[in-house]
Amino acid sequence: MATVLMIKANDRPAEQAVSVQLYDAFVQSYKETHPADTVVELDLYAENLPFYGNEAITAMFKSAQGFELSAEEKRAADTVNKYLDQFIAADKVAIAFPLWNFTAPAPLINYIGYIAQAGKTFKYTAEGPVGLLNNKPVVLLSARGGVYSEGPMVEFEAAVRPVKAALGLFGAQTQEVIIEGHNQFRDRAADIIAEGLKKAADTAAAF
Ligand SMILES: Cc1cc2nc3c(=O)[nH]c(=O)nc-3n(C[C@H](O)[C@H](O)[C@H](O)COP(=O)(O)O)c2cc1C
Repeated sequence: MATVLMIKANDRPAEQAVSVQLYDAFVQSYKETHPADTVVELDLYAENLPFYGNEAITAMFKSAQGFELSAEEKRAADTVNKYLDQFIAADKVAIAFPLWNFTAPAPLINYIGYIAQAGKTFKYTAEGPVGLLNNKPVVLLSARGGVYSEGPMVEFEAAVRPVKAALGLFGAQTQEVIIEGHNQFRDRAADIIAEGLKKAADTAAAF
């Protein structure tokens, strides 16, 4: 029996948001095809995590060094460790998010700060950082209205690319289900979305 962490970084209603539809299709299919597994859902907008900044950075540094923490730092370290431990404990992870203004929503970028912890998800070596996640399977589910996989917008894609790079650096084994071009090709939008949602359901069944 596996534990799967399903992360959603989009607070729009499903009928308006294709990446939420991807999330719903994946979760529903996974639950149907893996009834014995534990599914943990993490809605990053609902969690409303504090911005990863000086307090959390200092708290994590001091606790790694064995220094005494102030009450605020202890609280910050506890919050970071809660999300970090949850991520590490999951056997598999799925992350659904849109491309908005060329990038991923801020709560997801913020969350990466929480899980990017030296000694936990990666370590520093003389050859550079090395991942510690032992090929944890991660599915990235993302939607973007224009086409970014080829053509003039490739260089602008800053949603999937940085998330994939960070998780790859941590030693995760990532795969992607991307829906793209449904705003660019309005006449084919329904087919593009339906095909992507089916791929999400199939990927969940095989995950
Ligand atoms: C605030 C906002 C910004 C967006 N920026 C872009 C963009 O830079 N490029 C693009 O191709 N589509 C853009 N879109 C369209 C989304 O990529 C598209 O709706 C896609 O399905 C992902 O968002 P959704 O899951 O919320 O639907 C934007 C949509 C919103 C709501």
